[in-house]
Amino acid sequence: MAWTGELDLGTKPAPVTGPMVSLTIDGQAVDVPEGTSVMRAAALMGTTIPKLCATDNLEAFGSCRLCLVEVEGRAGYPASCTTPVTPGMVVRTQTDKLKSLRKGVMELYISDHPLDCLTCSANGDCELQDMAGAVGLRDVRYGYEGDNHLHAEKDESNPYFTFDSTKCIVCSRCVRACDEVQGTFALTVDGRGFGSAISAGQKQDFLSSECVSCGACVQACPTSALIEKNVIAVGTPDRAVVTTCAYCGVGCTFRAEMRGEELVRMVPWKDGKANRGHSCVKGRFAWGYANHKERVLNPMIRSSVDQPWREVSWDEAIAYTASEFRRIQAQYGTRAVGGITSSRCTNEETFLVQKLIRQGFGNNNVDTCARVCHSPTGYGLKTTFGTSAGTQDFDSVQYADVIMIIGANPTDGHPVFASRMKRRLRQGAKLIILDPRRTDLVRSPHVEADYHLPLKPGTNVALLTAIAHVIVTEGLFDETFIRDRCDWDEFADWSAFVSEPERSPEAIEPLTGVKAADVRGAARLYATGGNGAIYYGLGVTEHSQGSSTVMAIANLAMATGNLGREGVGVNPLRGQNNVQGACDMGSFPHEFSGYRHVSDGETRALFEKAWGVPLDAEPGLRIPNMLDAATDGVFKALFIQGEDILQSDPNTHHVAAGLAAMECVVVQDLFLNETANYAHVFLPGSTFLEKDGTFTNAERRIQRVRKVMEPRNGYGDWEIVQLVANALGLGWDYAHPSQIMDEVARLTPTFAKVSYAALDEHGSLQWPATDAMPAGTPTMHIGGFARGKGKFVVTDYVPTDEKTGPRFPLLLTTGRILSHYNVGAQTRRTDNVAWHPEDMLEIHPQDAENRGIRDGDWVSLRSRAGETTLRVTITERVAPGVVYTTFHHPATQANVITTDYSDWATNCPEYKVTAVQVSPSNGPSDWQKSYEEQARHSRRIEAVVVAAE
Ligand code: SF4
Ligand code: SF4
Ligand code: SF4
Ligand code: FES
Repeated sequence: MAWTGELDLGTKPAPVTGPMVSLTIDGQAVDVPEGTSVMRAAALMGTTIPKLCATDNLEAFGSCRLCLVEVEGRAGYPASCTTPVTPGMVVRTQTDKLKSLRKGVMELYISDHPLDCLTCSANGDCELQDMAGAVGLRDVRYGYEGDNHLHAEKDESNPYFTFDSTKCIVCSRCVRACDEVQGTFALTVDGRGFGSAISAGQKQDFLSSECVSCGACVQACPTSALIEKNVIAVGTPDRAVVTTCAYCGVGCTFRAEMRGEELVRMVPWKDGKANRGHSCVKGRFAWGYANHKERVLNPMIRSSVDQPWREVSWDEAIAYTASEFRRIQAQYGTRAVGGITSSRCTNEETFLVQKLIRQGFGNNNVDTCARVCHSPTGYGLKTTFGTSAGTQDFDSVQYADVIMIIGANPTDGHPVFASRMKRRLRQGAKLIILDPRRTDLVRSPHVEADYHLPLKPGTNVALLTAIAHVIVTEGLFDETFIRDRCDWDEFADWSAFVSEPERSPEAIEPLTGVKAADVRGAARLYATGGNGAIYYGLGVTEHSQGSSTVMAIANLAMATGNLGREGVGVNPLRGQNNVQGACDMGSFPHEFSGYRHVSDGETRALFEKAWGVPLDAEPGLRIPNMLDAATDGVFKALFIQGEDILQSDPNTHHVAAGLAAMECVVVQDLFLNETANYAHVFLPGSTFLEKDGTFTNAERRIQRVRKVMEPRNGYGDWEIVQLVANALGLGWDYAHPSQIMDEVARLTPTFAKVSYAALDEHGSLQWPATDAMPAGTPTMHIGGFARGKGKFVVTDYVPTDEKTGPRFPLLLTTGRILSHYNVGAQTRRTDNVAWHPEDMLEIHPQDAENRGIRDGDWVSLRSRAGETTLRVTITERVAPGVVYTTFHHPATQANVITTDYSDWATNCPEYKVTAVQVSPSNGPSDWQKSYEEQARHSRRIEAVVVAAE
């Protein structure tokens, strides 16, 4: 795509639902929706009115006075950005008087601005420079000697951008972007008149302020006052490619702006339907890992894991992989091998890995990391509604009246969606939060939860059933909806169950720790407050009753009629960028793409015909079962694409034992991860910047990933899988990932209308995209459920086997922080470490005092499974009896202490509940002290030394 800066129409669009208004601008007739500004109306017909303080993703402000126009019959010169069109209006934008006024305004700005355009980093990409040209300013009458701001200091504290107030024109676009778009309210205009200046926080630098480094202010700034450090270092971009973020399930799309072959910056794409022009610190700035020195670029093999790695050619690595898998299958049987797909990789790559296993290995031993996060979502929503996915698009939140967040922390985990949610909350939507921890949304600038129900970890089902108890016993359910859309008999069974007195808020209060009055209040609000939308996260799924909790949520939504239209629904906030897609593509051992069971003869016949081999009708092994089978000596080889199961899966000791028992472990990844310590083959992976494909976000939205640079390792990941497949004799001949998607579409009814051409045409598609819905399906279950009648499921509360007691009196729960992603393999290799250099344990002041622990102390954290050491933060964010940590740093090894209890239906591990004890410690254990340094050192040296031999 050739370089074009994005068109800025100056002000936001008016709702297209209003009547059209006809007016005349510079003698030309134009029709625009009512509520459109004169500036936008002119821009739509191709006339650019000079502007500085206006930009089309912010409310008009009217402060710079550059956009003045003349309106017939109106005195003075109104600002076109704040003047709405009226019927019959006659506007002139280019008169001599206007030119002179605008020139005068620009003179004032320029007289207090450094005259260094030619050496300025924004030269050629600066609106101030453009406007000076547009108004024909050639010199400044006032001179430059008077009072000015030209000696102010630069703030370079943020790792990714600088603030140079000498370049600031105090247009307040940055302040408004932080307030309106991001919702953090970190910036203010300090002082008045000539003395006014932009300030982060309480006259702090950006890094120590409330700023979360989303970059919205940098994007909004019309000068180089706020500018990316990389633009200063590399220069302004000359071309752009639209692609999709590879971090989280929000699925923000970006313009990857390039200078030659070098990536200069990622700028959120205004037309992106998931992010609408916004981003978080990870997608916007944390892509430097692609060039990190620890990235492995050459394949390596070794005959046993106590040997050093040996760099080899791609040919040798691929041939070795294929021969080992064939040898092991010949020796131990067809089912002695398997593979793991990655939610970080594209749909096409995931589809190929599961095809490799089903077609090439001849079994169904394929699983995915969704096993450890959202597998209960798939099970629960399929059972109740008939589709293993969320029901809405992100835009839907704009129409919600009551938002219920369960076990999710969107401001950290799904920040761009959180910003949209906060905007709706600031407009007056009500908020209910079910979370053991006081997350940011419980109280943040201009947002406060109406109810925070701080339940004890592990009691989700009891609490949701108590909410249902109130809705049913107080007659707040939607009988019409239930009779029309659901199975009434199942509803009757369910309502009888939830109505029992032992399920009342009062009866479960001792169990959950939540005040009964709050439960009643929250239930009434959700049931009667208008459109009720539920958003949930891993705090729901990663429990022994994860699937039951998902079904309990679905029951609530059906009982209150909150499904099948905008503003309502049940919405899992998916973790990784392509966790939805990995599940859709057939990564589970019992399902082909599109969630069709492997035992279904018709579906199997379809795939057998396409792939030319008989396929196994028996479901394969899940990840924990593969590891069990390995320690039992019957499972011998594993192909792992883009996953670090040693770090991400529960009970590290068990994972290590399983991997150690295998004869061939193949790891395909960017870096030598922890799992690679047990690998025999390492195949270097490619980053999302280096390949074509698609990701599917939490809204079921399929979006293009476009190659912006050649793969540094030589191949895209899909090509590597194809090489392995062909070494096994499968004869694949995909020339481009679009052909893989074409195959998916041929074999998967819900993807029937998905193709790269359709994605390019529509920008993105939310599946199902079928003959009936060729442009996709933003809202599911309109008029009827995918399964027919909605199914109410009785969800009896069964306490987890993981119990507190005298030895382990506290409950540990885990989560993520904004600046890092999962096990941190990528974000730890960027400047994001500035915000979170280590994992900390949050503990309530009372629990800390009882143990003689002070803020910042090192503590030992012990469970029945293991022990680790980390430092504490004393905070009332967690309730007494609950402790909390993140799991982004391998030196902490938080999963050493998690147990292997798991969801009854899907084996999703119970990460969110571990009974622990916390006690003072002298500091990190010896292995932790030297862990990172040693690991890095030894990996680099091993690889380099052996390569040189
Ligand atoms: S920093 Fe940029 S956006 Fe903010 S007030 Fe100054 S010029 Fe405007
Ligand atoms: S980077 Fe984001 S959070 Fe920080 S000041 Fe700018 S807009 Fe606000
Ligand atoms: S990490 Fe998530 S919220 Fe942040 S930019 Fe990427 S997709 Fe968007
Ligand atoms: S752009 Fe209209 S007043 Fe600044």
